[in-house]
Amino acid sequence: MTRHTLLVHAHPRSDSLTSQVAGLAHARLKDAGGTVDVLDLYAEDFDPVLRPADEPDWEDREKRYSPEVHAHMDRILAADDILAVFPVWWMAPPAVLKGWIDRVWNYGFAYGRSRPRLAAKRMLWLALMGNPAEEIERLGLSTVLDTQLRVGVSEYCGITDASVRIVYGTELSGTPVPLRPERVRTLLAEAGAALDGGLPR
Ligand SMILES: Cc1cc2nc3c(=O)[nH]c(=O)nc-3n(C[C@H](O)[C@H](O)[C@H](O)COP(=O)(O)O)c2cc1C
Repeated sequence: MTRHTLLVHAHPRSDSLTSQVAGLAHARLKDAGGTVDVLDLYAEDFDPVLRPADEPDWEDREKRYSPEVHAHMDRILAADDILAVFPVWWMAPPAVLKGWIDRVWNYGFAYGRSRPRLAAKRMLWLALMGNPAEEIERLGLSTVLDTQLRVGVSEYCGITDASVRIVYGTELSGTPVPLRPERVRTLLAEAGAALDGGLPR
């Protein structure tokens, strides 16, 4: 079966490591015969601020939200797989991605129904972190993203085939900026392995 993936990308610079990982993911998905809808939240100038039009109405799960939000819901519905590629900022997704979830993964659409509409989809949260894994472990933060995103968002919305994979150490202390090409190659190889593990072809 040809799979259709919504590739959600959240980085302000097109030459960033995150953008390179998103590019790699795009190429691999197409090489595998799939189709891809690239949602570059910065390039599309997505407004992450939730305003009254997109506030849930707990009395009405059929509420019509803003046209922009319904257009994004349609893109989610069209996808078999959802892949989010993003840098970790303050142990969380960037505000633009958080706001996309706040506004689009809304009541009556993503949750609030006895039969969740998104349940059959697969989802991978592919995160890039500056710190090495050992430092995150030492700080007691190793499960934060998994709990927030896999459990708190995907599973809450009925998506059980979901995972969070992390490429660590994108800014190891002493690492030159820009990163040396061999370091970029290593990190991209780790991202490729995370993609294979999270969304097997
Ligand atoms: C505002 C901000 C907050 C950050 N917070 C964290 C953090 O909480 N944990 C971490 O490991 N790295 C953190 N970083 C480092 C980013 O994860 C790192 O810059 C990113 O993975 C590198 O990818 P890029 O070159 O595509 O931006 C932060 C970076 C920024 C700019």
